[in-house]
Parts: sequence; structure tokens; C-alpha cells
Amino acid sequence: MKFFLDTADLAEIEEAASWGVLAGVTTNPTLYARTGGKLADFHNHIKRICEIVDGPVSAESVAMTRDEMIRDGRELAALADNVVVKLPTMIEGLAATRQLSSEGIPVNMTLCFTVPQAIMAARAGARYISPFVGRFDDISENGLAQLEDVVAAVNNYDFGHEVEIIAASVRSANHVAQAALMGADIATVPFAALKKCVQHPLTDRGLDAFLKDWEKVQGA
Ligand code: E4P
Repeated sequence: MKFFLDTADLAEIEEAASWGVLAGVTTNPTLYARTGGKLADFHNHIKRICEIVDGPVSAESVAMTRDEMIRDGRELAALADNVVVKLPTMIEGLAATRQLSSEGIPVNMTLCFTVPQAIMAARAGARYISPFVGRFDDISENGLAQLEDVVAAVNNYDFGHEVEIIAASVRSANHVAQAALMGADIATVPFAALKKCVQHPLTDRGLDAFLKDWEKVQGA
């Protein structure tokens, strides 16, 4: 499994990139708004992320028609070689994905919740598909079970191009663990949850004991 960071925060991206495990970034309009960013700065912000990250950076179009999505997608793709255009899993998004992917522009289909949506995204040419986990949990459904179904279904077929599943709307280290066990290619994880993925109380306790014992050695 590869780790993507689910954020538009430059400081978080720089920090996570320094850990040596960051393979990409996903942004969305909410995450960009959270940085306090304005529309006029959006393209520069994406460019900056693309400079920091050695891997795909998803930048989302908020257009609602295929023609506008295609226009946005071309503009976004021109910002940097590692831009991936993020489009919603809906009819207009599928049509725009077909066109953009035929031009060699990679698309990440987002807001994907079901197996048929995921298969259609792959058939339309999506390079990445993002099934959301946490938002299912938010409505008292089992997000991990839905993700497992999507991974199994997509892996049943050869779509004639590479397709990677991004476990999205990830909220915890357990989501990441389960996504890895079921074979999701990528997890896109918020910064706080990514930090928790490397932490464990037994690691802390063991380290504490090692440090204390080392003090004894030094005092001998
Ligand atoms: C996916 O790419 C989305 O940006 C993201 O994972 C959404 O997560 P949320 O449901 O926590 O907002």
C-alpha cells in the first residue's frame, strides 16, 4: 500500500514528505478552503504542492458539466506533470474522464461509494478510484465492508489500463490497516491519522525502557 496525504496544507505536506513515505497528495475544495486559500491562488497552490511531492497530486474540478470539467482538467493538468484531475463519480464526470484520459490526463474519480460506480469509473478510463470509507461510517454503515467490495470487484477485471484504488475518507490507523489487508493500492490519510499510523503505546513504552537502561550503562 502507498500512503497519500489528504490535505492542502503546505506545512503538513512538507512535514510528511520529510518522513520518506509520502507517495502522493489528494486535495479537495473543502481541504483547500480550510487553508484559507482563495480562488485566485488555487492554481499556484496546486503548483507548490506538486513541487513538494514526488508523486501524483489530485486537484479537483468543481464544474458540473462535462465540457467545464474537461476545460478545468486541461488547465489543471497543465500546471505540473504530476497533477491528477479529480472528478466526481457522476454521469458528467464519467464523460469528462473518458475525454481527459484519452488525452493522457490521469483522472481520480472521487465521491465513489459503490461497486457499480467504481466499475464505471474504471471503464471510463479513471487512473484512480477513490471509494470513501468514513462517510459511510458517518451514516452508520460499514465503510470498510464497502471498500472491500470495491477492491474485490475492481480486481476481477482488466480494464486495459492501470487502475489503482485509493481508500479515501480515512479517519484512523485501523482504517489504514484494514484497507491494506484487503489490498487497496493506496490510502489517502489526513495528517493527524497518518501520524497515528506510526505510533503505538508499546513502541513508546519500549523506547522509554531502552533510554532508561542506557542511562544506567552511561552511569556505570
Ligand atoms: C478524498 O480524496 C477526499 O479528499 C477525502 O478523503 C474526503 O475525506 P472526508 O470524508 O474525511 O472529508
